[in-house]
Amino acid sequence: MTASGLLAEIEDVGRDPKRGGYSRHAFDAPEQDLRAWFGERALGLGLDVDTDHNGNIWAWWGPPGPDAVVTGSHLDSVPGGGAFDGPLGVVSALAAVEALQARGFRPGKPFAVVVFTEEEGGRFGVPCLGSRLLTGTIDAGKARGLRDADGVTFAEAAAKSGFDPELIGADPARLGQIGRFLELHVEQGRGLIDLGAPVAVGSTVIAHGRWRFSFAGQGNHAGATLLADRADPMLPAAATVTAVRRLAKAVPDARATVGRLVPTPGGTNVIASIVDLWLDARVPGSVTPALVEDITRAAEAAAAEEGCRVTVTRESYSDDVVFDDALRRDLGGWLGGPPELPTGAGHDAAILAGFVPSGMLYVRNPTGISHSPEEFAEAADVEAGAEALAGVLERLAR
Ligand code: GLV
Ligand code: MN
Ligand code: MN
Repeated sequence: MTASGLLAEIEDVGRDPKRGGYSRHAFDAPEQDLRAWFGERALGLGLDVDTDHNGNIWAWWGPPGPDAVVTGSHLDSVPGGGAFDGPLGVVSALAAVEALQARGFRPGKPFAVVVFTEEEGGRFGVPCLGSRLLTGTIDAGKARGLRDADGVTFAEAAAKSGFDPELIGADPARLGQIGRFLELHVEQGRGLIDLGAPVAVGSTVIAHGRWRFSFAGQGNHAGATLLADRADPMLPAAATVTAVRRLAKAVPDARATVGRLVPTPGGTNVIASIVDLWLDARVPGSVTPALVEDITRAAEAAAAEEGCRVTVTRESYSDDVVFDDALRRDLGGWLGGPPELPTGAGHDAAILAGFVPSGMLYVRNPTGISHSPEEFAEAADVEAGAEALAGVLERLAR
């Protein structure tokens, strides 16, 4: 089946009528449906499917072994996300295997399609959790204790889905089997629109991280408490939102976002006792921590002014990544010199890049919008991407 045909098969899974788009989170019902669907599709291609201790799914074409060529992406989404971020890389991998089989190709090396779990960190807060666990980039104990918005830990959710939480953690044997990793992904900005090309090779991923700012004040009555008597954590939270934009604007090429702000208890007639906000900050080079330091100082000053306290917790961080030079050169040569694109988006391939030669292909997104229902790719570009992926996999795995 074509990549577009495979995407059409899952177009109703995890639709979010409230937010629009899709909400598919690690181990929730839609994601479980997608896991089952992937397993069926992979088995249908004659692949052997197994799930590792961290919840990542591996579909092997031939026996597993060293120097494997591995391709894939993820099936989870951000809340209210688009149809392509993640699934496009998975369906393109399946379509590429089918196309190669139809051409009579048989890999001369171990070959696998992988689906990484919790890439967006949409449920447990840490992005690329599956690939961080595989590579030991996150401590297993920390991962087990990560909580979702309802207080359920990653360990509890994994156990409920049939995984032994004690086995969660670095998997050097499996990581050691990967010779090259290649992820195809929908483009998440305007790069390919502006260049008028359907497919690009990834060059770099900028440093990025997530920080939780927790402002604590005094919960109280909205009518009975005079303004002068308040310690309202919403005020320093609001001041921090504007400080994020002001301070980031002063740093070349910085991106900084507050996309999530949660007051507790969250009542219209209640002064909040706690306001949590999450900062997503991304700047090329080593500037990100310095920018977050400045934002922290601004948050502390705003908290003190209102008689509140703030605690800042780093939830994840990744340095700049440059994808493997030799692989980039090969991909570019085999694909006839497509553009190379840097990105501000994070990917499992960027986590893997610290351990094995890794690369990415991007498929044009005509809206230039991502992490939103407006994310899109034309069917012709989807097929061009899958064909490009098949072509380079054939060369890598021969
Ligand atoms: C993942 O898509 C991210 O960049 O946050
Ligand atoms: Mn994403
Ligand atoms: Mn993605």
